[in-house]
This record gives sequence, C-alpha cells and structure tokens, in this order.
Amino acid sequence: MRLDRLAVSRFRCVADASLALGPGINLITGDNGAGKTSAIEALYLLSHGRSFRGRVRDGLIQHGEAALRVLAQWRDASATEHRAGIEHDGKQWQVRVDGASVKTLAELASRIALVCFEPGSHALLSGAAENRRRFVDWGLFHVEPGFLECWRRYARALRQRNALLKSAHDGVSLESWEHELQISGDLITAMRISYLAQWEHALLIATAQFLPELPVAKVSFVRGWRAEDTLAAALKSSRDRDQAMGFTSVGPHRADWRINFARLNAKDGLSRGQTKLTALACVLAQAQQFAAVHGDWPIVCLDDLASELDQRHQQRVIELVIASKAQVVITATEAIPALAPLHVSRFHVEQGDFTALL
Ligand SMILES: Nc1ncnc2c1ncn2[C@@H]1O[C@H](COP(=O)(O)OP(=O)(O)OP(=O)(O)O)[C@@H](O)[C@H]1O
Ligand SMILES: [Mg+2]
Repeated sequence: MRLDRLAVSRFRCVADASLALGPGINLITGDNGAGKTSAIEALYLLSHGRSFRGRVRDGLIQHGEAALRVLAQWRDASATEHRAGIEHDGKQWQVRVDGASVKTLAELASRIALVCFEPGSHALLSGAAENRRRFVDWGLFHVEPGFLECWRRYARALRQRNALLKSAHDGVSLESWEHELQISGDLITAMRISYLAQWEHALLIATAQFLPELPVAKVSFVRGWRAEDTLAAALKSSRDRDQAMGFTSVGPHRADWRINFARLNAKDGLSRGQTKLTALACVLAQAQQFAAVHGDWPIVCLDDLASELDQRHQQRVIELVIASKAQVVITATEAIPALAPLHVSRFHVEQGDFTALL
C-alpha cells in the first residue's frame, strides 16, 4: 500500500500539518522535540488504533485543544484510493473509512498495515512478555482471518473465569468457561506457533543481511503453561492456585517468545546498538512475512533510525528497505549519509511545523 497524504491536527506539538508523502523513502528531519516522533505516532495511531507512547489521556491531544484528528489518503495493492480519519475529543473515538462511520478502531487498523520501529521497540527483546505477544498477534491479525474473532472469544472467556474466581461460584460454570478458554486458546496457540515458525525464517534472513556478526540460532516459543500438559489439564490443575490469587495464571495470555543467538546465551549480552538492530530485524521480518502473504509490503516507519547505529549498519538497513520497494518513513535529527545518493522525499519539522524540501 502507498500512503499519499497524512494530515495531523491538534496532536501533541503538531497544530496542523499535511504531508504529501512520496512512494519510496520519506525522510523527516528536525531537532529534538520538533515533532518527528509525533508524526510517526499519528500514523501508528491510525494503523494500530493506539499509540506506542500512552493513551489519549496521557497527552495525545494538543494542550489547550479539544480534539485531535488524523487523516490519511492511500492506495491499496490494486491502486484503489481510500481515505480514513480518526478523531478523539477526550471522551471517545470517531472513525471514518471511505466516508462511512466504522464502529471499531480494529476495523480501520485492518485496512492500514504499518510496521514501526521506534526507540521503545527494544522492549521486544528486553521488555515484558506483553510486548512480544502483541507483536505476534499484530502479525496474525493481518495474515490470519480468523484470529481476531478467536482472540476476542478467548479474552471474553478469560474475563468471565477471572470474575468467577473472585466470587462464589459453582464448578459447572467455571468448567464451561474453561472449555471455551481451551477451544479458543488451543486455536490461538496453534496460530502463534505457525506464525512464529514462518517469521523465524524471515528473521534469520534479515539478521544475516544486516547483523551477520550476531547470528540468530532460533526463536523459542513458550505457550503459557507447562509443555507437558494440555491447556485443559493446566486450567483444571491450576484452579486452587488461581482461586487464591484471583486470576488465571496459565494460558495463551501468558505466552512468550525469545530469540536465541548462536554465539550468545543471554539477552544481556547484546550491546545497545545490537539490541536495536535485532529489534529492527524483528520488525522488518514481520513486514517481509506480511508481504509474503499479501504480495505487498506494509508501510515501514523507522523513527530515529540513525541513533546508536554506525554508518555501516545504517547502510545495510537502508539497503534492505530499498530492496523491499516498501514505502518507508524515516526520521532523524541529521541527514543520513546512506540516503544521500538516493531519491528521497524530504521534510523538515520545527516546533510541529512541517515543510516539504525540494
Ligand atoms: N499534548 C501535547 N501538547 C503540546 N505539545 C506536546 C504534547 N505532548 C507532547 N508535546 C511536545 O511535543 C514535542 C515533540 O515531541 P516529539 O517526541 O515528536 O519530538 P521529536 O522530534 O521526535 O524529538 P526527538 O528527536 O527528541 O526524538 C515535545 O517537545 C513534547 O513536549
Ligand atoms: Mg523522537
């Protein structure tokens, strides 16, 4: 897909901006605090239905303003034009796609595929398991048509079981929700295992390309309960403990994955730059896998690409994204030498004010 225009209003430090993006690489430069990440964040909000930097009440709406708005105009893989917009007035979202209201942010998110690397993405390696589950689930949301429904069923059953655990209940109702957890949970787990196996393949290729000195051996998956048990048995045997704690301690909501390196046995062994490159490889491998299924790359956003990367590694990352033919939005405080000889659509931002550079 190709984004032709992004318009952002009253979003963080951006009062009003309209960017006509180029089809290939777009570079946004500006000083610290100018609004580069805010532009990426606005795009992420459209494509994911949430920000990577907190909730609306944490300050997405520009101080002193009543509502934020983000609009986008894009062409899909068959070159059909679309428009979408989201608004938040401090109370609720309003979402429109191609002139019609849609009920959920997920509906919009399913239309705009975008992968994003931003400074917080190192959490994929060093952060909580929730970051890694979200990552896999985003991939499944876009490549596995039944995933969202299955995930909703699981989430509902989990809420019900947790509520029952905290109240007086009969064993029969607990069992019926456990049955639902087991059916949807086994499906989710099978989808995650199959997704990760394909993604691992793409990851090995991406890391071999721009991080050859740190070969990835494999990706290991932790399902969220003891490997020797079925989910049904794990739920049953954890009942007493779960009752004491008041929540469900086993299941796909506790799943995780980790990368094992061939010459390294702990994540702590990575330098900051290597952590960044590995997380970048995770994101680009996910984009590659999306493209393998849909025949078209998602939009790739790389916020603050150059920081912590030496020029050789910057060059390799740029080579990979250029070869992909994806539409890319890169931000940086300074010009990026690896981009100098290339045709790039350039923008400069100062205090939330964006200018296209000729
Ligand atoms: N709700 C808000 N209203 C007004 N300004 C805000 C709001 N939220 C954040 N800001 C300001 O927006 C500015 C831009 O932040 P942003 O993270 O986009 O900058 P950046 O260009 O990515 O900087 P860096 O190079 O340091 O990463 C910051 O100065 C921040 O204080
Ligand atoms: Mg930034």
